[in-house]
Amino acid sequence: MDDRPLIDIAEYEDARPVHASNFTRSGHDFYPTPAWVTEALLDNVPLRGPVWEPCCGGGAMVRPIERRGYRVEATDIADHGFGQSGIDFMACGSVPAGCQSIVTNPPYGDGTVERGATKSALKLLSFVDHAIRLTEQNDGQLALLVRYTWIAGKRASTLISAGPLDRVLVLTRRICWFDLGPATKQGQHHHCWLFFDAQRDRAKPPEIVFV
Ligand SMILES: C[S@@+](CC[C@H](N)C(=O)[O-])C[C@H]1O[C@@H](n2cnc3c(N)ncnc32)[C@H](O)[C@@H]1O
Repeated sequence: MDDRPLIDIAEYEDARPVHASNFTRSGHDFYPTPAWVTEALLDNVPLRGPVWEPCCGGGAMVRPIERRGYRVEATDIADHGFGQSGIDFMACGSVPAGCQSIVTNPPYGDGTVERGATKSALKLLSFVDHAIRLTEQNDGQLALLVRYTWIAGKRASTLISAGPLDRVLVLTRRICWFDLGPATKQGQHHHCWLFFDAQRDRAKPPEIVFV
């Protein structure tokens, strides 16, 4: 039996459970990420620090990164009681001074589950495009947690391939976003980390790693 802790929903007053039935997406798509997901990234890529988490929410990704000794600049468009609020990632023309890596899970999900799906999918593409541009500009690294099936789409795959994609870390365990006790549902989707590095050897094809 796997005894790794799940997120405790009680810690996140304004978060909504993704896998509770009949859910609607929460404000700004705030879904905290279980620590093991970020740890899987840190175990498998050599991050250059300091790190920027531009959609930090309640800090669920920030804490595991800091535990590995990195300094993390934590910002978010909304106030979830952690980091610096009021910072719209899409309006940022550069990474915070000194940061060499961006690590986050883009908001907007994959837009397949409710009304406004097309708009949501376009927002996600814009978000990833903007993140890749900032990374290239900074000669830095970028790790984005996305749904595994999303990367196979025509527009997503074209966008991703145009960036300095170094590795795809496929999470073989499905993410369960909240521990709701007996009401907890098995995660429905597989996710992966897309890891870009502007300093990668571009003669080599990207790797796919199952973790
Ligand atoms: C899926 S949650 C992830 C939170 C955190 N990264 C984690 O893993 O626990 C997405 C976060 O993105 C933030 N967000 C949404 N749009 C944003 C934007 N344009 N700029 C910065 N943050 C944004 C939301 O407020 C929310 O905290």
